[in-house]
Amino acid sequence: MKLVLIAAIGKNRELGKDNDLIWHFKKDMRFFRQTTTGHTVVMGRKTFDSLPHKLPNRHHVIISRGNPDYEDVELFHSIEDFLKAYQDKDETVYGIGGAQIYAQLLPYADELLLTEIDAAAEADVYFPAFDKEKYTETVLDVQEEDGIRVRWVSYTK
Ligand SMILES: NC(=O)c1ccc[n+]([C@@H]2O[C@H](COP(=O)([O-])OP(=O)(O)OC[C@H]3O[C@@H](n4cnc5c(N)ncnc54)[C@H](OP(=O)(O)O)[C@@H]3O)[C@@H](O)[C@H]2O)c1
Repeated sequence: MKLVLIAAIGKNRELGKDNDLIWHFKKDMRFFRQTTTGHTVVMGRKTFDSLPHKLPNRHHVIISRGNPDYEDVELFHSIEDFLKAYQDKDETVYGIGGAQIYAQLLPYADELLLTEIDAAAEADVYFPAFDKEKYTETVLDVQEEDGIRVRWVSYTK
């Protein structure tokens, strides 16, 4: 498995508030959809609950200690169980959040695909701090959205 963590973060690595996203930039939503479509996406139970519906054309892996009654998703009770089942698969898997899942998958991630939003906001969940020295940084695109500078950056190990 190639594991890619994909996230949109603010200046202070803000991720979300009240189990919702902070920013809803159209271009970034499109980037997320185009990047992840056709692939497996792994997420925490709270992020899955925050979605209005299942993401079309993506296989959903949900991590939960409980047994939520979701249809047509693959459920794992631990990060270890997920890694065991997927580590030998020949596919790219996208870790799509939230904060708990990013923090626990970070050591196993081959790439971080971050939308860096040049703004600060009130948040209650944050992307984990990571050592940029350990990664090669490639800026994929820079644009303005609603007057805010947004950079799409790939960090590879
Ligand atoms: N900006 C972005 O790109 C982005 C992307 C995704 C999400 N978000 C935001 O992030 C927030 C949600 O993040 P979050 O950190 O609160 O929740 P989360 O990571 O989405 O989900 C947490 C849940 O995952 C399960 N879990 C976590 N670690 C586990 C483990 N080791 N073993 C088994 N189950 C485990 C637990 O589910 P159970 O309670 O069911 O046991 C836990 O309550 C929301 O605000 C969302 O909008 C932002």
